[in-house]
Amino acid sequence: MCGIVGYVGEHAAGTKPLEVALEGLRRLEYRGYDSAGVALVGAGLGQVATRKKAGKLVNLVAELEENPLPPATAAIGHTRWATHGAPNDVNAHPHVAGKVAVIHNGIVENFAQLKAELADDGARFRSETDTEVVAHLLERAYARTGDLTAALREVAQRLEGTFTILAVHADEPQKVVGARHDSPLVVGLGEGENFLGSDVAAFIAHTREALELGQDQVVTITPDSVTVTDFDGSVVEPRRFTVDWDAAAAEKGGFASFMDKEIHDQPHAVADTLLGRTDLSGALVLDEIRIPEAVLRSVDKIVVVACGTAAYAGHVAKYAIEHWCRIPVEVELAHEFRYRDPVVNEKTLVVAVSQSGETMDTLMAVRHAREQGSKVLAICNTHGSTIPRESDAVLYTHAGPEVAVASTKAFLGQITAAYLLGLYLAQLRGNKFPDEVAELLGQLREVPAKIQQVLDGAEHVREVARSMREVSSVLFLGRHVGFPVALEGALKLKELAYIHAEGFAAGELKHGPIALIEEGQPVFVIVPSPRGRDSLHSKVVSNIQEIRARGARTLVIAEEGDSDVLPYADEVFFVPQVPTLLAPLLTTVPLQIFACELATAKGLDVDQPRNLAKSVTVE
Ligand code: AGP
Repeated sequence: MCGIVGYVGEHAAGTKPLEVALEGLRRLEYRGYDSAGVALVGAGLGQVATRKKAGKLVNLVAELEENPLPPATAAIGHTRWATHGAPNDVNAHPHVAGKVAVIHNGIVENFAQLKAELADDGARFRSETDTEVVAHLLERAYARTGDLTAALREVAQRLEGTFTILAVHADEPQKVVGARHDSPLVVGLGEGENFLGSDVAAFIAHTREALELGQDQVVTITPDSVTVTDFDGSVVEPRRFTVDWDAAAAEKGGFASFMDKEIHDQPHAVADTLLGRTDLSGALVLDEIRIPEAVLRSVDKIVVVACGTAAYAGHVAKYAIEHWCRIPVEVELAHEFRYRDPVVNEKTLVVAVSQSGETMDTLMAVRHAREQGSKVLAICNTHGSTIPRESDAVLYTHAGPEVAVASTKAFLGQITAAYLLGLYLAQLRGNKFPDEVAELLGQLREVPAKIQQVLDGAEHVREVARSMREVSSVLFLGRHVGFPVALEGALKLKELAYIHAEGFAAGELKHGPIALIEEGQPVFVIVPSPRGRDSLHSKVVSNIQEIRARGARTLVIAEEGDSDVLPYADEVFFVPQVPTLLAPLLTTVPLQIFACELATAKGLDVDQPRNLAKSVTVE
């Protein structure tokens, strides 16, 4: 998820294009801050003028002070959340080919095939990015069409995956063109000037009149015109709207908090983590996993090391990987791992799960594992962070920057990446046939839309949360993969609403915790699918009866159509049907919403809860 801005307005070259681009990037930096760059065009420049630097926007500003750019008439700007290629100067956007400069938000799934074709045609590449491929395609298309809009329409039809692309050409200095597929792009309407942005935060300081571009559309802005067509060139009339948010709200996409925004980002977080992970035959290709296949085949144990929410993702991974690969999986709290003299060696694969990639406890566990000869694979959301750098391999989640301290979309991204790892190992070690892997991947690809269904139907959860703002204790029960979901639901409520909450394996209840049940005690119960092979469903329904009989207020999360729970549930929150192992991607969401809404009802800061830090970089 990157920040994108475009501007055209100066009939005579000036400094405003660069100023607007930098201001827009400043407001979009929450969308990514691995690197930043700008490209300018202007009459008489003859070439595209670019500056780009790794790191936060301040690095680019410093670069521009040292090496200023000339006056211009149009500009594009980009702040990056790396997906392909390390966050460095070379991989920073914009990418240039000849007189074309391109910036891009998304993932071009077929970039490797396109890059090979271009290389055969003599193209030379400087970066590892998928975006540079688009720049070369655009340069060639422009040579054929002589028109940047026509060239972009042609190129957009060749790309697979998700993309928002902006481009400028030195020979058309009063034009910025953009194209979108599955990735956002909005137009800001000015007087004698026009704007483009990945969201309205890019230009809200200049105009509140905007156009929302639809799927597979191309937009061309000049100082005095905005033209929108579909990829075939037919003119379309996009929806016009007036932005009534203030600038701060605009950075949250109109949501009241980053926490709420990131909960709603989760369909994209899962979908983007799945993108670009299969080859043309449909087989999994996890090209960041640079551990020799022979080593992965010889692995006889997997140990997951992580903390907090990331550790609960590890617990979900345990169920999936053991089931698919028949390899024992241990899940260790990273801060406990190295102090208990763990039994790990060269046949152990250690998987370090971390959103930030900077958690010191997890980093220390990684170092210890490597000293013992184990290979370490990181599952991480932050490109170029320390844990992936010190691991043998990495499987990045593509959840985009997670600003709120309490983790939500990164958690679903971690679980998704763990499923990919499990399927990859099963495919590699022969536990699963290609068609089985393809079927499970297909089921995974259906999950984002189902998460969206849960989000769209969440008003009941919010109402219940608001009604419970005075509670002092909530328990969470789950079984099988529902157990780590119960743990995560409890953690969210602790972190956000400062309420005592505890997660249990439902089967453990009768071994002691049931003593906690008294009249009115709220208990969430995550119920497995009734369609599962085993009788876990009936056991959990019995658990609900047991606590209801003792006065508990039962808040049940169950699969759509599960009528067995109705007689024993004070509240029911249904989620769409998915295979049992994939259920955490859905059952977690109502618990996140519950915690966020209850904390908000208590007037608490859900983005920066007390006592917490987004990345715990001390042991
Ligand atoms: C999650 O809501 C918490 N903020 C915390 O448990 C977090 O998951 C943990 O500190 C691990 O952080 P990491 O994923 O960045 O390593």
